[in-house]
Amino acid sequence: MTKPKISILGTGYVGLVAAAVFAERGFDVLASSQDKEKVDLINRGKAPFFEQDLDAIVEKTVRAGKLRAVLGRREAVLQSDIFFIAVGTPSLMSGEADLRLVKETAAAIGEALREKDSYGLVVARSTIVPGTTRNVILPLLEKHSGKKAGRDFGVCMSPEFLRQGAAVHDTRNPDSVVIGELDARSGAFLESFCRQVYAGQDVPILRMNLESAEMVKYGRNTFLAMNISYINELARIAETIPGIDIYEVVKGIGADWRINPAFLNAGCGYGGSCFPKDVKALISFARLRGVQPQLLETVEEVNEQQAIHVVAIAKQELGGSLKGKRVALLGLAFKPGTDDMREAPAIKVANHLYAQEADIVAYDPKAIPNARTRFIRDTIRISYANSVEECLTGADCCILLTEWEEFKKLTPEVFNRCMKRSVIVDGRRIWDDSFQKKVASYRGIGLGSSNAYASEHTVLFKLGDQLIQAGLITPDQLERALEEQSRTGGLIGANLIKLGFLTEQALLDFLGRQYGLSGANP
Ligand SMILES: NC(=O)c1ccc[n+]([C@@H]2O[C@H](COP(=O)([O-])OP(=O)(O)OC[C@H]3O[C@@H](n4cnc5c(N)ncnc54)[C@H](O)[C@@H]3O)[C@@H](O)[C@H]2O)c1
Repeated sequence: MTKPKISILGTGYVGLVAAAVFAERGFDVLASSQDKEKVDLINRGKAPFFEQDLDAIVEKTVRAGKLRAVLGRREAVLQSDIFFIAVGTPSLMSGEADLRLVKETAAAIGEALREKDSYGLVVARSTIVPGTTRNVILPLLEKHSGKKAGRDFGVCMSPEFLRQGAAVHDTRNPDSVVIGELDARSGAFLESFCRQVYAGQDVPILRMNLESAEMVKYGRNTFLAMNISYINELARIAETIPGIDIYEVVKGIGADWRINPAFLNAGCGYGGSCFPKDVKALISFARLRGVQPQLLETVEEVNEQQAIHVVAIAKQELGGSLKGKRVALLGLAFKPGTDDMREAPAIKVANHLYAQEADIVAYDPKAIPNARTRFIRDTIRISYANSVEECLTGADCCILLTEWEEFKKLTPEVFNRCMKRSVIVDGRRIWDDSFQKKVASYRGIGLGSSNAYASEHTVLFKLGDQLIQAGLITPDQLERALEEQSRTGGLIGANLIKLGFLTEQALLDFLGRQYGLSGANP
């Protein structure tokens, strides 16, 4: 069987990885970029960004003459049979995906198709909402080529499912390939290519229409994001119960054959270039169609809260104030194995710390150059360390945000030696029981601790604050009720009633309004 020639338009995490893996499997691949510097780098055998294992495979395939980068799209399309659109689709302010690059690329492919005699296949690889391939890409291809889709050229949509940090592995070993097809000829062409790429591997190929394939991508990503928000919410509940460990709980939950525990890792929330963007895009897509995406909105809200929660734990451990406290952040990339800082939880955590006047120092083995541009844009004052030890030196608290292998190997002694006091907030739960016992203070996401009382106190404090905000009590009265509570015990509401600052009925009405509680025990 002759091997089709491939071009990949877009040389980011998706495009370049696919280009290198297809080239590794013996196909002639052209990677097209609009950026001359990137083209030169790739042609020298180097990846323009860090992704686990990518440098080696780019070097190998460029040297073997199977992968070549070209500037612009025309040459790439003219010299190939299948053209993948793998450009970025970032979020607009409205949450919708920005299709500017997809449109530009489709128009450029169309122009090149005008000059082409043979049948070629256009494959949309970027994440795009249902209807985009048929209603946006296809008309641009036809307009700019003067040709008819289905007859003169084929059109497919095949979403990408790789995980950054394991992108090369995932592209070599996908769990499935989804092909959305305009017509049977287009689908058969792409299927035949995929069967050659994955010859000898057991990779199911699912063929469907264009819109269903587009929706599969959103379905997978929003489902995974929902898993993360779900387990983070459960973790927050678990933290208020001393002795409980959400990771033990997940083992029990996952023992049910209906539940896959692989994506139930409680932590500091999801980030990256896909989940936040894709949840937003589906929310906006649903609203435009008159569907209120309640669950997806909550998934987003819970995720936003998680960064605030991580900072709140640190604040609690530091006695209620972060002002002037030196906080060491270990890890900045949104996950290990990548230098990508897009929507990384570290950005939110750093923003919240900065807003509370903490003195922030951070270390990451790969992401500092990206973090510098990102944090500067956010106008956060943050200093960067060259090593873990430098980062920890003199710190009042350390927050672990990315589970790099290098961090997993750290011993408690390093923290005890370098930090003012080894106060650790483990946002990824990488350190075990014996580590936890050897540092001054350890708090982990989803780990109920003896500090649960302090959390309860915070909840009560919140109730007090809310009663003040509602005009039901004064700050002085709250102060006196808290004094009373510390002398004689009892809940804050009961003390406010006992001191005559609030009637029981007023408190019950308030709780009913605020929390939907009836017959609540104040
Ligand atoms: N990153 C992931 O893990 C992942 C996984 C699955 C799907 N996706 C989807 O794949 C698509 C690409 O994602 P990515 O992470 O590779 O994005 P990326 O930002 O890393 O790469 C996008 C590429 O678009 C091209 N580009 C950027 N600006 C351009 C310009 N002005 N003109 C022309 N081309 C330009 C460049 O080649 C750039 O490298 C997106 O739709 C994304 O949602 C990403």
